[in-house]
Amino acid sequence: MLFTNKPGNRISAGIYLPRLGLSALFLCLLSGIVLTFYYRPMGNVFQNVEEITTLVPYGWFFRQLHFASGQLFVILMLIHAVDHFHQKRYRLYPVGQWQRLVFSLCLCFYTLFTGFILKGDQEGIFAARIFMNIMDHIPLVGETISRGFILPGDDLFFLPYLYHCFFLPILILYLIRTHIRKWLPKHGVLYTGAAGLCLYALFIKPFVDIPPDAFAASVKGPWFFLGIQTLLKTLPATLAGIVLPALFLGCVLILPSLERAGGESGVEKSGLGIISGYLHWLIVLVFFLYALLTLKAAFWGA
Ligand code: HEM
Repeated sequence: MLFTNKPGNRISAGIYLPRLGLSALFLCLLSGIVLTFYYRPMGNVFQNVEEITTLVPYGWFFRQLHFASGQLFVILMLIHAVDHFHQKRYRLYPVGQWQRLVFSLCLCFYTLFTGFILKGDQEGIFAARIFMNIMDHIPLVGETISRGFILPGDDLFFLPYLYHCFFLPILILYLIRTHIRKWLPKHGVLYTGAAGLCLYALFIKPFVDIPPDAFAASVKGPWFFLGIQTLLKTLPATLAGIVLPALFLGCVLILPSLERAGGESGVEKSGLGIISGYLHWLIVLVFFLYALLTLKAAFWGA
Protein backbone atom coordinates (compact mmCIF):
# COMPACT_ATOMS: atom_id res chain seq x y z
CA MET A 1 0.00 0.00 0.00
CA LEU A 2 1.22 3.45 -0.76
CA PHE A 3 -0.59 5.18 2.05
CA THR A 4 -3.14 4.13 4.63
CA ASN A 5 -5.27 5.81 7.24
CA LYS A 6 -5.89 4.16 10.59
CA PRO A 7 -6.12 0.36 10.50
CA GLY A 8 -9.70 -0.70 9.82
CA ASN A 9 -10.30 2.52 7.90
CA ARG A 10 -8.10 1.87 4.94
CA ILE A 11 -8.30 4.51 2.26
CA SER A 12 -5.56 3.05 0.27
CA ALA A 13 -4.01 3.96 -3.04
CA GLY A 14 -2.70 0.40 -3.12
CA ILE A 15 -6.26 -0.88 -3.31
CA TYR A 16 -7.77 1.56 -5.80
CA LEU A 17 -4.92 2.09 -8.23
CA PRO A 18 -4.71 -1.52 -9.54
CA ARG A 19 -8.52 -1.56 -9.94
CA LEU A 20 -8.39 1.71 -11.83
CA GLY A 21 -5.59 0.17 -13.91
CA LEU A 22 -7.80 -2.76 -14.86
CA SER A 23 -10.68 -0.49 -15.85
CA ALA A 24 -8.15 1.37 -18.06
CA LEU A 25 -7.17 -2.00 -19.57
CA PHE A 26 -10.81 -2.80 -20.49
CA LEU A 27 -11.17 0.57 -22.19
CA CYS A 28 -7.84 0.14 -23.93
CA LEU A 29 -8.85 -3.27 -25.32
CA LEU A 30 -12.23 -1.96 -26.51
CA SER A 31 -10.81 1.16 -28.18
CA GLY A 32 -8.00 -0.98 -29.67
CA ILE A 33 -10.56 -3.28 -31.30
CA VAL A 34 -12.30 -0.25 -32.86
CA LEU A 35 -8.96 1.04 -34.21
CA THR A 36 -8.02 -2.29 -35.81
CA PHE A 37 -11.06 -2.03 -38.10
CA TYR A 38 -9.38 0.93 -39.79
CA TYR A 39 -5.65 0.39 -39.20
CA ARG A 40 -3.53 -1.13 -42.01
CA PRO A 41 0.02 -2.17 -41.05
CA MET A 42 1.33 -1.84 -44.64
CA GLY A 43 1.65 0.84 -47.29
CA ASN A 44 1.66 4.47 -46.11
CA VAL A 45 0.97 3.82 -42.42
CA PHE A 46 1.40 7.46 -41.37
CA GLN A 47 -1.25 8.56 -43.87
CA ASN A 48 -3.55 5.75 -42.72
CA VAL A 49 -3.23 6.86 -39.07
CA GLU A 50 -3.85 10.50 -40.07
CA GLU A 51 -6.99 9.38 -41.92
CA ILE A 52 -8.19 7.55 -38.81
CA THR A 53 -7.70 10.80 -36.86
CA THR A 54 -9.29 13.16 -39.35
CA LEU A 55 -11.68 11.21 -41.62
CA VAL A 56 -13.06 8.28 -39.61
CA PRO A 57 -16.03 9.44 -37.49
CA TYR A 58 -14.78 9.83 -33.89
CA GLY A 59 -11.46 8.33 -34.98
CA TRP A 60 -9.58 11.08 -33.09
CA PHE A 61 -11.57 10.20 -29.96
CA PHE A 62 -10.81 6.47 -30.11
CA ARG A 63 -7.12 7.13 -30.80
CA GLN A 64 -6.82 9.49 -27.84
CA LEU A 65 -8.85 7.15 -25.61
CA HIS A 66 -6.65 4.21 -26.60
CA PHE A 67 -3.46 6.20 -26.02
CA ALA A 68 -4.56 7.49 -22.59
CA SER A 69 -6.03 4.19 -21.35
CA GLY A 70 -2.97 2.22 -22.54
CA GLN A 71 -0.54 4.60 -20.83
CA LEU A 72 -2.62 4.75 -17.64
CA PHE A 73 -2.92 0.96 -17.47
CA VAL A 74 0.83 0.40 -17.75
CA ILE A 75 1.77 3.28 -15.42
CA LEU A 76 -0.64 2.01 -12.74
CA MET A 77 0.67 -1.55 -13.14
CA LEU A 78 4.20 -0.21 -12.67
CA ILE A 79 3.19 1.70 -9.52
CA HIS A 80 1.41 -1.42 -8.24
CA ALA A 81 4.52 -3.55 -8.83
CA VAL A 82 6.81 -0.97 -7.18
CA ASP A 83 4.42 -0.84 -4.23
CA HIS A 84 4.53 -4.66 -3.87
CA PHE A 85 8.29 -4.65 -4.21
CA HIS A 86 8.74 -1.88 -1.65
CA GLN A 87 6.72 -3.88 0.89
CA LYS A 88 8.73 -7.02 0.04
CA ARG A 89 5.48 -8.78 -0.85
CA TYR A 90 7.48 -11.06 -3.18
CA ARG A 91 8.21 -13.05 -0.01
CA LEU A 92 4.54 -14.07 0.13
CA TYR A 93 4.20 -15.26 -3.45
CA PRO A 94 5.18 -18.64 -4.85
CA VAL A 95 8.39 -17.89 -6.80
CA GLY A 96 6.80 -18.87 -10.14
CA GLN A 97 3.93 -16.45 -9.65
CA TRP A 98 6.24 -13.51 -8.90
CA GLN A 99 8.22 -14.30 -12.03
CA ARG A 100 5.04 -14.52 -14.13
CA LEU A 101 3.88 -11.13 -12.86
CA VAL A 102 7.24 -9.44 -13.49
CA PHE A 103 7.34 -10.97 -16.96
CA SER A 104 3.82 -9.72 -17.72
CA LEU A 105 4.83 -6.19 -16.64
CA CYS A 106 7.70 -6.38 -19.17
CA LEU A 107 5.18 -7.50 -21.81
CA CYS A 108 3.02 -4.46 -20.92
CA PHE A 109 5.98 -2.18 -21.69
CA TYR A 110 6.64 -4.02 -24.92
CA THR A 111 2.96 -3.51 -25.83
CA LEU A 112 3.39 0.24 -25.25
CA PHE A 113 6.55 0.17 -27.32
CA THR A 114 4.89 -1.59 -30.27
CA GLY A 115 1.94 0.84 -30.00
CA PHE A 116 4.43 3.70 -30.26
CA ILE A 117 5.83 2.12 -33.47
CA LEU A 118 2.34 1.59 -34.94
CA LYS A 119 1.75 5.37 -35.11
CA GLY A 120 3.95 5.23 -38.23
CA ASP A 121 5.30 8.74 -37.66
CA GLN A 122 8.94 9.76 -37.47
CA GLU A 123 9.21 8.88 -33.77
CA GLY A 124 7.64 5.46 -34.34
CA ILE A 125 9.98 4.61 -37.23
CA PHE A 126 12.95 5.91 -35.23
CA ALA A 127 12.03 3.70 -32.24
CA ALA A 128 11.65 0.70 -34.57
CA ARG A 129 15.12 1.32 -36.06
CA ILE A 130 16.78 1.68 -32.64
CA PHE A 131 15.11 -1.54 -31.52
CA MET A 132 16.33 -3.38 -34.63
CA ASN A 133 19.79 -1.93 -34.20
CA ILE A 134 20.02 -3.11 -30.56
CA MET A 135 18.81 -6.60 -31.45
CA ASP A 136 21.09 -6.91 -34.50
CA HIS A 137 24.09 -6.19 -32.27
CA ILE A 138 23.57 -9.37 -30.22
CA PRO A 139 26.46 -11.62 -31.31
CA LEU A 140 25.66 -14.58 -33.63
CA VAL A 141 21.89 -14.88 -33.09
CA GLY A 142 20.96 -11.16 -33.08
CA GLU A 143 19.63 -10.85 -36.59
CA THR A 144 17.63 -14.09 -36.37
CA ILE A 145 16.00 -13.05 -33.07
CA SER A 146 15.38 -9.55 -34.39
CA ARG A 147 13.50 -10.86 -37.45
CA GLY A 148 11.12 -12.66 -35.11
CA PHE A 149 10.01 -9.28 -33.75
CA ILE A 150 10.38 -6.80 -36.57
CA LEU A 151 11.23 -6.88 -40.27
CA PRO A 152 13.12 -4.13 -42.10
CA GLY A 153 11.67 -2.39 -45.17
CA ASP A 154 8.05 -2.29 -46.30
CA ASP A 155 6.89 -4.84 -43.71
CA LEU A 156 8.28 -2.83 -40.77
CA PHE A 157 4.89 -2.48 -39.05
CA PHE A 158 3.50 -5.95 -39.68
CA LEU A 159 5.06 -7.93 -36.80
CA PRO A 160 4.72 -5.09 -34.23
CA TYR A 161 1.04 -4.97 -35.31
CA LEU A 162 0.57 -8.73 -34.76
CA TYR A 163 2.30 -8.58 -31.39
CA HIS A 164 0.50 -5.41 -30.27
CA CYS A 165 -3.05 -6.27 -31.27
CA PHE A 166 -3.12 -10.03 -30.74
CA PHE A 167 -0.26 -11.95 -29.11
CA LEU A 168 0.72 -9.55 -26.33
CA PRO A 169 -2.75 -8.63 -24.97
CA ILE A 170 -3.78 -12.31 -24.98
CA LEU A 171 -0.53 -13.39 -23.30
CA ILE A 172 -0.75 -10.61 -20.68
CA LEU A 173 -4.36 -11.50 -19.82
CA TYR A 174 -3.41 -15.17 -19.60
CA LEU A 175 -0.43 -14.52 -17.30
CA ILE A 176 -2.27 -12.23 -14.90
CA ARG A 177 -5.59 -14.11 -14.94
CA THR A 178 -5.37 -15.56 -11.41
CA HIS A 179 -3.72 -12.47 -9.95
CA ILE A 180 -6.38 -10.03 -11.20
CA ARG A 181 -9.34 -12.00 -9.90
CA LYS A 182 -9.20 -10.15 -6.60
CA TRP A 183 -8.53 -6.82 -8.32
CA LEU A 184 -11.45 -6.91 -10.75
CA PRO A 185 -12.86 -3.37 -10.65
CA LYS A 186 -16.10 -2.76 -8.81
CA HIS A 187 -18.68 -0.90 -10.91
CA GLY A 188 -17.92 2.46 -9.23
CA VAL A 189 -14.21 2.31 -10.06
CA LEU A 190 -14.95 1.04 -13.57
CA TYR A 191 -17.36 3.90 -14.34
CA THR A 192 -15.14 6.55 -12.73
CA GLY A 193 -12.12 5.35 -14.69
CA ALA A 194 -14.11 5.17 -17.94
CA ALA A 195 -15.64 8.63 -17.42
CA GLY A 196 -12.24 10.20 -16.57
CA LEU A 197 -10.57 8.67 -19.63
CA CYS A 198 -13.42 9.64 -21.98
CA LEU A 199 -13.27 13.23 -20.68
CA TYR A 200 -9.50 13.21 -21.24
CA ALA A 201 -9.96 11.94 -24.81
CA LEU A 202 -12.65 14.57 -25.48
CA PHE A 203 -10.88 17.62 -24.12
CA ILE A 204 -7.12 17.05 -24.24
CA LYS A 205 -5.51 17.60 -27.61
CA PRO A 206 -3.32 14.68 -28.78
CA PHE A 207 0.40 15.06 -29.41
CA VAL A 208 1.14 16.02 -33.00
CA ASP A 209 2.46 13.10 -35.08
CA ILE A 210 5.57 14.14 -37.05
CA PRO A 211 5.48 12.98 -40.72
CA PRO A 212 8.29 10.47 -41.46
CA ASP A 213 10.10 12.78 -43.91
CA ALA A 214 9.67 16.09 -42.00
CA PHE A 215 12.65 17.86 -40.42
CA ALA A 216 12.76 17.43 -36.64
CA ALA A 217 15.52 18.86 -34.42
CA SER A 218 15.35 15.89 -32.06
CA VAL A 219 13.39 12.65 -32.18
CA LYS A 220 12.51 10.93 -28.92
CA GLY A 221 11.45 7.38 -28.15
CA PRO A 222 8.62 6.48 -25.75
CA TRP A 223 9.01 7.89 -22.21
CA PHE A 224 10.15 4.66 -20.57
CA PHE A 225 12.82 4.20 -23.27
CA LEU A 226 14.40 7.64 -22.81
CA GLY A 227 16.90 6.42 -20.21
CA ILE A 228 18.14 3.67 -22.54
CA GLN A 229 18.23 6.20 -25.40
CA THR A 230 20.58 8.35 -23.26
CA LEU A 231 22.77 5.38 -22.31
CA LEU A 232 23.05 4.41 -26.00
CA LYS A 233 24.96 7.65 -26.61
CA THR A 234 27.85 6.53 -24.45
CA LEU A 235 27.64 2.74 -24.13
CA PRO A 236 27.67 0.00 -26.80
CA ALA A 237 24.16 -0.96 -28.01
CA THR A 238 24.27 -4.50 -26.62
CA LEU A 239 25.38 -3.29 -23.17
CA ALA A 240 22.86 -0.44 -22.87
CA GLY A 241 19.93 -2.14 -24.60
CA ILE A 242 20.29 -5.80 -23.61
CA VAL A 243 22.90 -6.63 -20.94
CA LEU A 244 22.06 -3.93 -18.35
CA PRO A 245 18.24 -4.28 -18.60
CA ALA A 246 18.61 -8.11 -18.52
CA LEU A 247 20.83 -7.91 -15.41
CA PHE A 248 18.32 -5.66 -13.67
CA LEU A 249 15.45 -7.96 -14.59
CA GLY A 250 17.44 -11.04 -13.55
CA CYS A 251 18.02 -9.53 -10.09
CA VAL A 252 14.29 -8.74 -9.68
CA LEU A 253 13.42 -12.29 -10.71
CA ILE A 254 15.86 -14.17 -8.46
CA LEU A 255 15.31 -12.01 -5.36
CA PRO A 256 12.38 -14.07 -3.93
CA SER A 257 14.36 -17.32 -4.35
CA LEU A 258 17.37 -15.81 -2.57
CA GLU A 259 15.15 -14.45 0.19
CA ARG A 260 13.52 -17.86 0.61
CA ALA A 261 16.81 -19.74 0.61
CA GLY A 262 18.22 -17.23 3.14
CA GLY A 263 15.19 -17.68 5.42
CA GLU A 264 15.25 -21.47 5.20
CA SER A 265 18.91 -21.89 6.13
CA GLY A 266 17.96 -21.64 9.80
CA VAL A 267 20.80 -19.34 10.96
CA GLU A 268 19.42 -16.10 12.43
CA LYS A 269 20.64 -13.81 9.66
CA SER A 270 22.19 -16.11 7.11
CA GLY A 271 24.66 -14.99 4.41
CA LEU A 272 21.99 -15.35 1.72
CA GLY A 273 19.54 -13.35 3.83
CA ILE A 274 22.05 -10.48 4.04
CA ILE A 275 22.79 -10.66 0.31
CA SER A 276 19.08 -10.56 -0.56
CA GLY A 277 18.64 -7.53 1.73
CA TYR A 278 21.44 -5.69 -0.12
CA LEU A 279 20.07 -6.81 -3.49
CA HIS A 280 16.67 -5.34 -2.62
CA TRP A 281 18.21 -1.92 -1.99
CA LEU A 282 20.47 -2.18 -5.03
CA ILE A 283 17.39 -2.74 -7.20
CA VAL A 284 15.67 0.27 -5.57
CA LEU A 285 18.77 2.42 -6.21
CA VAL A 286 19.09 1.40 -9.88
CA PHE A 287 15.36 1.96 -10.40
CA PHE A 288 15.60 5.52 -9.02
CA LEU A 289 18.73 6.28 -11.03
CA TYR A 290 16.93 5.12 -14.18
CA ALA A 291 13.89 7.24 -13.25
CA LEU A 292 16.19 10.28 -12.84
CA LEU A 293 17.86 9.59 -16.19
CA THR A 294 14.40 9.36 -17.79
CA LEU A 295 13.27 12.67 -16.24
CA LYS A 296 16.49 14.36 -17.32
CA ALA A 297 16.08 13.11 -20.90
CA ALA A 298 12.39 14.12 -20.94
CA PHE A 299 12.90 17.68 -19.70
CA TRP A 300 16.45 18.59 -20.67
CA GLY A 301 16.94 16.42 -23.77
CA ALA A 302 18.42 12.92 -24.17
C1 HEM B 1 -2.30 -3.97 -23.07
C2 HEM B 1 -2.99 -3.53 -24.07
C3 HEM B 1 -2.64 -2.33 -24.93
C4 HEM B 1 -1.90 -1.20 -24.66
C5 HEM B 1 -1.19 -0.84 -23.38
C6 HEM B 1 -1.91 -0.38 -25.87
C7 HEM B 1 -1.29 0.85 -26.02
C8 HEM B 1 -1.17 1.57 -27.21
C9 HEM B 1 -0.48 2.82 -27.40
C10 HEM B 1 0.19 3.61 -26.27
C11 HEM B 1 -0.57 3.15 -28.70
C12 HEM B 1 0.01 4.42 -29.37
C13 HEM B 1 -1.10 5.43 -29.50
C14 HEM B 1 -0.60 6.79 -29.89
O1 HEM B 1 0.49 7.20 -29.44
O2 HEM B 1 -1.33 7.50 -30.61
C15 HEM B 1 -1.31 2.12 -29.37
C16 HEM B 1 -1.61 2.10 -30.72
C17 HEM B 1 -2.44 1.19 -31.32
N1 HEM B 1 -3.09 0.13 -30.70
FE1 HEM B 1 -2.90 -0.45 -28.80
N2 HEM B 1 -2.65 -1.05 -26.82
C18 HEM B 1 -3.12 -2.24 -26.30
C19 HEM B 1 -3.91 -3.17 -26.89
C20 HEM B 1 -4.40 -3.06 -28.18
C21 HEM B 1 -5.31 -4.01 -28.79
C22 HEM B 1 -5.90 -5.24 -28.09
C23 HEM B 1 -5.54 -3.56 -30.07
C24 HEM B 1 -6.41 -4.14 -31.13
C25 HEM B 1 -7.14 -5.22 -31.05
C26 HEM B 1 -4.76 -2.34 -30.26
C27 HEM B 1 -4.69 -1.60 -31.43
C28 HEM B 1 -3.88 -0.51 -31.65
C29 HEM B 1 -3.71 0.15 -32.93
C30 HEM B 1 -4.40 -0.25 -34.23
C31 HEM B 1 -2.81 1.22 -32.72
C32 HEM B 1 -2.27 2.20 -33.79
C33 HEM B 1 -3.19 3.38 -33.99
C34 HEM B 1 -2.81 4.61 -33.20
O3 HEM B 1 -1.62 4.94 -33.05
O4 HEM B 1 -3.73 5.24 -32.71
N3 HEM B 1 -4.08 -2.07 -29.09
N4 HEM B 1 -1.67 1.16 -28.44
